[in-house]
Amino acid sequence: MVEAPESLPWWKRGVIYQVYPRSFADSNGDGIGDLGGILAHLDYLNDGTPASLGTDAIWLSPIFASPAYDFGYDVSNYNEVDPLFGRLADLDELIRQAHERGMRIILDLALNHTSHLHPWFDESRASRTSPKRDWYLWQDARPRGGPPNHWQSVFGGRAWQWDPATTQFYYHMFLPQQPDLNWRNPQVREEIEKVMRFWLERGVDGFRLDVVNAYFKDAQLRDNPFHWGLRAYDRQVHAYDADQPELLSVYAEMRKLVDEYGDRMVVGELLRGSPKKIWRYCGAGRLHLAFSFDLISCGWNPLAFQRAILACEQALGPEGWPCYALGNHDVSRLVSRYPGRHALERAKVAAALLLTLRGTPCLYQGEELGMKDGLVPRGKIRDPAGKRYWPLYPGRDPTRTPLPWSDGPGAGFTNGDPWLPINPDFRSVNVARELEDPHSVLSFYRRLIWLRRSSKALNSGSFRSLLKNPKGGLAYLRESEEETVLVAMNFYQRPTQLVLDEDLPTSQWEWRLGTHPGRSGLQVGNTLSLLPYEVCILQGAR
Ligand code: GLC
Ligand code: CA
Repeated sequence: MVEAPESLPWWKRGVIYQVYPRSFADSNGDGIGDLGGILAHLDYLNDGTPASLGTDAIWLSPIFASPAYDFGYDVSNYNEVDPLFGRLADLDELIRQAHERGMRIILDLALNHTSHLHPWFDESRASRTSPKRDWYLWQDARPRGGPPNHWQSVFGGRAWQWDPATTQFYYHMFLPQQPDLNWRNPQVREEIEKVMRFWLERGVDGFRLDVVNAYFKDAQLRDNPFHWGLRAYDRQVHAYDADQPELLSVYAEMRKLVDEYGDRMVVGELLRGSPKKIWRYCGAGRLHLAFSFDLISCGWNPLAFQRAILACEQALGPEGWPCYALGNHDVSRLVSRYPGRHALERAKVAAALLLTLRGTPCLYQGEELGMKDGLVPRGKIRDPAGKRYWPLYPGRDPTRTPLPWSDGPGAGFTNGDPWLPINPDFRSVNVARELEDPHSVLSFYRRLIWLRRSSKALNSGSFRSLLKNPKGGLAYLRESEEETVLVAMNFYQRPTQLVLDEDLPTSQWEWRLGTHPGRSGLQVGNTLSLLPYEVCILQGAR
């Protein structure tokens, strides 16, 4: 791959796009997205011109062999592509064609646990004396019976499953079909190392590491302290079933291994992440990045967003590097989180924020279209969490419905029967229509990403808020040695005046991008007057 000489590595400068393969595009009519579907649509993501989205990397949710109790997050063979998605050769081709377009491929490794059908677990559960017994977390019942402690599973119920054949419990942080590996066993670590090398040698550019702070559990299996919460899992402070001190040695080993291959990276998904944890787990000799999900839990008000951003900026410091997301395959979609008549305007404000912050932005497929959560009737629920908690919680299917490519049959996603229902609004919210409409959410994303690519201040510069107590919107500067960019946005439907808390470094500003193109009347002084839901991105003269 030809790389323009730049000061920051690609994983800091670039934009990551998360593909959820089952729902991206189906190439063989079985109703399930696959590698062929992704290959057919690579130009949509990046064809080298601003007609495409312009993303720099694709994070592929798991495509490994899996019985799919948790839709790929339960792996039965880490070195094989699941036949549902294609063959190993298709993945090689995807890596090749992505690289040709200047895009990287990041695979999603769920290494905290395997599938209960993984041959390692088969062997481990075969007998108490199996050589692989210690590869998982087996424990005797308490003297009076019952599981060794009160730890709960994230998906509901006890985290311990009784195995009648060998009369012991095994631990599963998620489903009983997802037994946790014993990361204290050196053989397990050796095997994982082999898996990582296998993929790095095939040319993948990095990994997204699933629940990367859960690999170790307290060696003494102490009960967690009590906490107020709705579900049993939330009624515990997770002091002993995650975030154990041994993690840092694993991160150091992984970092060393990945760095052997040059310009690659690992991005961690943290269970109950916080800026402090990101700071602790990322940096030299540790993970390259960890997602910050703090923007996802913000209410729709600028103060909440500013607090989340500053908390991350302060915890990580100027050397640290945030990695923000507004959504993923586990959470309700942005347009459904902030619903109403102006949801699409809000989607644009949020997009502008994500793509102009300091840090690596990660978009989830469909976010760029302003997709809503899908409607999944009870009988069509596939997600185990949805099945368990319906109707209190609909589960994660609504955020995983197929990506609508056109207003044609099957929304251009499939010729067959889609595995989850197509969203009812697919005739207006689809790729083909939005590509043609200069005012669509997609067109706005495209312009933002290409602006970010071309601007050093936006992709690498520092961040400085211009408002101490934002009310109507946000205003901040992004600065590199060469450029200053001013970003201002109105979060509401009424016009707003943002009174800046400090003088701007220049009074001469050139319009770069906004939601109201052609608006040249913006006066840039210590007060910025913005129209309803207006976003303005201006470049300062030096
Ligand atoms: C992560 C994944 C989620 C999965 C869980 C268990 O949180 O994002 O989809 O269910 O880990 O692997
Ligand atoms: Ca298919």
